Amino acid sequence: MALFVGLMCGLTPACVQPEIASPAKRSINEETKGSVRQERGRRADEAKPWEELRLPPAITPEFYNLTVQPDLTGSDTFQGWASILINVSEPIEYPRIHIKNINVTLSKIIDDTGSELVEVNPAFYYEYNEFYVMDVGTLQPGMYTWEIEYTGGLAGKIAGFYKSSYTVPGETEPRYLATTDFEPTDARQAFPCFDEPNIKTFFKIKLRHESKYIGLSNMIEEDRIDIGDGMVETVFGDPEVKMSTYLVCFIVCDFGSVEGKTKSNVTFRVFAPEHKIEEAYYALKVGINITEYFEEYFGLPYSLKKLDMIAIPDFSAGAMENWGLITYREQYLLIDNVTSSASYKQLVCVVVSHELAHQWFGNIVTMDWWDDLWLNEGFASYVEYLGADQAEPTWQMQEQFVVNDLYSVFRLDQIVSSHPIIIDVNRPEEISEVFDSISYSKGASVIRMLNDFMGEESFKEGLQRYLKKYEFGNAKSADLWEQLQSAYDDIVKGNLDIADIMDTWTKQMGFPVVNVEKDMNDLVLNQDWFLVDPNANRSAAPFESPYDYKWEIPFSSKFQMQLDDPPNYQWMERTDTDVVVTGDNSDWYIANYEEKGYYRVNYDIANWEALSLQLNTDHTMIPITDRSGLLDDAFNLAQAEQLDYVKVLDMTVYMDKEMEYIPWDAAYSNFMWLSDILRYQPAFADWRVYLQSKTKTLLNKYNDWSAEVSHLENFLRTDIIYLSCSSGDPDCLNEALTQFYKFLNNETVSANVLSPVLRFGMELDGGQDNWDALWERYVNSDTSAEKSRISFGLARTRHVWLLSRYIEYAMDESKIRRGDFFSVLSYISGNPVGNPLIWDYIRANWEYLVDRFGLSRSLGSLTYTTTQYYSTELKLQQMEEFFEKYPEAGAGPDHASRHWNA
Ligand SMILES: *[C@@H]1O[C@H](CO)[C@@H](O)[C@H](O)[C@H]1NC(C)=O
Ligand SMILES: *[C@@H]1O[C@H](CO)[C@@H](O)[C@H](O)[C@H]1NC(C)=O
Ligand SMILES: *[C@@H]1O[C@H](CO)[C@@H](O)[C@H](O)[C@H]1NC(C)=O
Ligand SMILES: *[C@@H]1O[C@H](CO)[C@@H](O)[C@H](O)[C@H]1NC(C)=O
Ligand SMILES: *[C@@H]1O[C@H](CO)[C@@H](O)[C@H](O)[C@H]1NC(C)=O
Ligand SMILES: *[C@@H]1O[C@H](CO)[C@@H](O)[C@H](O)[C@H]1NC(C)=O
Ligand SMILES: *[C@@H]1O[C@H](CO)[C@@H](O)[C@H](O)[C@H]1NC(C)=O
Ligand SMILES: *[C@@H]1O[C@H](CO)[C@@H](O)[C@H](O)[C@H]1NC(C)=O
Ligand SMILES: [Zn+2]
Repeated sequence: MALFVGLMCGLTPACVQPEIASPAKRSINEETKGSVRQERGRRADEAKPWEELRLPPAITPEFYNLTVQPDLTGSDTFQGWASILINVSEPIEYPRIHIKNINVTLSKIIDDTGSELVEVNPAFYYEYNEFYVMDVGTLQPGMYTWEIEYTGGLAGKIAGFYKSSYTVPGETEPRYLATTDFEPTDARQAFPCFDEPNIKTFFKIKLRHESKYIGLSNMIEEDRIDIGDGMVETVFGDPEVKMSTYLVCFIVCDFGSVEGKTKSNVTFRVFAPEHKIEEAYYALKVGINITEYFEEYFGLPYSLKKLDMIAIPDFSAGAMENWGLITYREQYLLIDNVTSSASYKQLVCVVVSHELAHQWFGNIVTMDWWDDLWLNEGFASYVEYLGADQAEPTWQMQEQFVVNDLYSVFRLDQIVSSHPIIIDVNRPEEISEVFDSISYSKGASVIRMLNDFMGEESFKEGLQRYLKKYEFGNAKSADLWEQLQSAYDDIVKGNLDIADIMDTWTKQMGFPVVNVEKDMNDLVLNQDWFLVDPNANRSAAPFESPYDYKWEIPFSSKFQMQLDDPPNYQWMERTDTDVVVTGDNSDWYIANYEEKGYYRVNYDIANWEALSLQLNTDHTMIPITDRSGLLDDAFNLAQAEQLDYVKVLDMTVYMDKEMEYIPWDAAYSNFMWLSDILRYQPAFADWRVYLQSKTKTLLNKYNDWSAEVSHLENFLRTDIIYLSCSSGDPDCLNEALTQFYKFLNNETVSANVLSPVLRFGMELDGGQDNWDALWERYVNSDTSAEKSRISFGLARTRHVWLLSRYIEYAMDESKIRRGDFFSVLSYISGNPVGNPLIWDYIRANWEYLVDRFGLSRSLGSLTYTTTQYYSTELKLQQMEEFFEKYPEAGAGPDHASRHWNA
């Protein structure tokens, strides 16, 4: 699936994007719930066949006819007719199929002579494995047709087949649509199916609906047949490919579309509500561009005749790569020229690129089972940068990787409670948990490292071999390593064992710090598991490492006197100590060149000092990503007590000369983190003055906040405004206030600076009148991007009672969409005035919250966001009490991640 929380954001609460919480899943099938029939003729202690989690391999679906009819106006239910051709390869009892929350009204199995098989016992539902089980005696090998009719509900859900709505300005009645969202295991809520990723089949789909709607599905519309009573049947083309169930999609809606064609003649369309269709052109343009690029990169044409992308008003993930019909959250697909900022534009480009990458990596070749999900997601999260870079060559996408993915996942992976990329998953709820930023961002980071040490040519060749070999099938991580190995052996003829190397990065959690000492002209290298908490209890880690926390490291370095040469590579094997790199007597050297490796580096003190000196004299001698890497490593090493803070701050002295976004963004997260830690300390005063002095040059350079600047300068300007206003710079705060009043007066304020303008405006002048005026704007805004900025601004008033009232508004679904509840609370918790309010609120209302939202990841991450900067004994005590009372309140594995399930 696709992603994403605020891509360009640092760690500030400003950057927490709204998140739609899955409503508590409603079972509409009370009748079948838990009714496990007593089985005769078996001993009670013998495992029943349906207690096996996995479907039996003896039954293979060969073809699927599916007709679905949603009722959007009256009952909010749907009806379905499924007819599945199954191939039984060996005698088997109790044929079973996945269903969930649907009522089966008829089920029969017909043999190849057309006779219906007689049921020996009534069919039953085994809820634990979500199986519908029939008993027709022993099925002998051969072909059968399994026919199932069923009904289901569309309302109150955001997974499976569900109803969504939107309003058109000027209309009072909402418009409705019915859409699907399946990954990982919700296809079974829409139709009975063999719901495992390695069971691929052909789907022939028909939708029945009122004639005012259109029907969309994976294949192109082939026919639209009038069936009377104002109803039509949309028939989709014959299936062109076999696909996994989680990639099936069907939608009934009244949207409009824009259309183009790729060079290879694929029809490319973007669907959106008619009144927003202008906003679809950007996605269409980059979508076509990136599809053409991936056809070349993967060496395989896109598989289907058409490719649609559609903006869904209520969507739980960021986007979903259904084959030929990709669904998106609105703000990740549509760009309004006026209210959209550079960051949303980039998000659209990147998310589109990610989903398009899945059309090959994921859809053509699918992971064999969910434990290799990272292969889909890590891979797409890496090549999304290549696609976006192609479409927008000036955005420095490849360099942005480090600030968007690498450093943020380092932060999660440098604590003992992280987890390996590859973990066992079995039950559906465990499957959902692996959609976290370790799968996405760490997966992407280790693949980027692999690409780097294999070299572009052999990496690409290996990928193409892999896609060819497993085309329309399934594969595991080991299969990818094997194909990459063969390409590497043929092209580079080196001596690397790719599987052996990659296992150390995927099968144990964490990553190393390489400690480098200069010995005369040489470098002496040693590795150690990097943990940011100096007191971390290493033996308390929840996973065991098969490699004793040692890695196979492609160590790269460059000496100052050889900057124009390619970097030196030196493998550090996991058993090696004191590895030597031959060097020269340069003043300084840098390692992990361009931050391609998934490790940190700690230098000898003399080198840190020489690097500081170089940054101060001419920082442009050191490449951009290495400047950002030095800063991020230094801050984290200091936190781990492996480097003195004085040395770290020395590294930042040059920042007043730094003009590039990427090093600034790396500094931004670390400066903000330090500010939050120092906020209640006497040293805060000096720290604020220091920050003001470092940001002054750029604040002056960008003194016109509505000026059109380049894409990356937009990001840089926003970072600078946040840093300098939050450190109290009077020029910055004055300008923020001026812009704030302009906004309240209905004058245009650039979308690129609106978040900081509203934040600092409300902090300085956020009394009731201004709060209410802003609230009015929130209610009337028609774009989700603008709404989310305003809701952030509202959370920044310093008047506690306004914040209390805002919490009440958030609980009222007629005021704030249920899906925006958590983002509003986390915005308030990011306000120092509001934080104690939220902390009290969570502690007082925990049971109510669990009751209303379930133990969702959104709830877990609210606790995390609220308490992440606590650093006093008192807070520690409060947290210990809280977690003792509610042990389940620990955040889900995805806390603080920027990625969405997608
Ligand atoms: C699917 O429908 C087609 C066309 O009506 C029919 O020829 C085919 O036998 C059906 N297959 C199954 C499994 O029902
Ligand atoms: C049924 O499955 C067997 C074994 O996998 C295969 O050899 C055979 O071709 C299949 N039959 C059909 C009609 O698909
Ligand atoms: C499914 O069956 C239950 C129990 O009979 C019933 O309450 C529910 O309305 C049914 N749902 C649909 C969509 O028919
Ligand atoms: C492209 O597809 C259209 C139909 O969509 C077809 O008429 C045309 O011949 C195709 N062109 C090429 C070059 O394949
Ligand atoms: C927005 O920009 C796109 C591309 O620059 C343009 O095609 C479209 O007409 C613009 N829409 C509006 C409403 O200005
Ligand atoms: C994609 O867009 C970029 C930038 O405009 C351009 O350089 C490139 O040629 C385009 N690629 C394709 C395949 O159209
Ligand atoms: C570290 O964790 C282990 C395993 O949980 C535990 O037995 C040990 O007491 C802990 N050590 C310290 C110093 O807390
Ligand atoms: C801004 O526009 C809204 C809606 O058009 C209006 O109600 C409000 O009075 C205007 N505010 C100002 C200060 O002009
Ligand atoms: Zn994805």
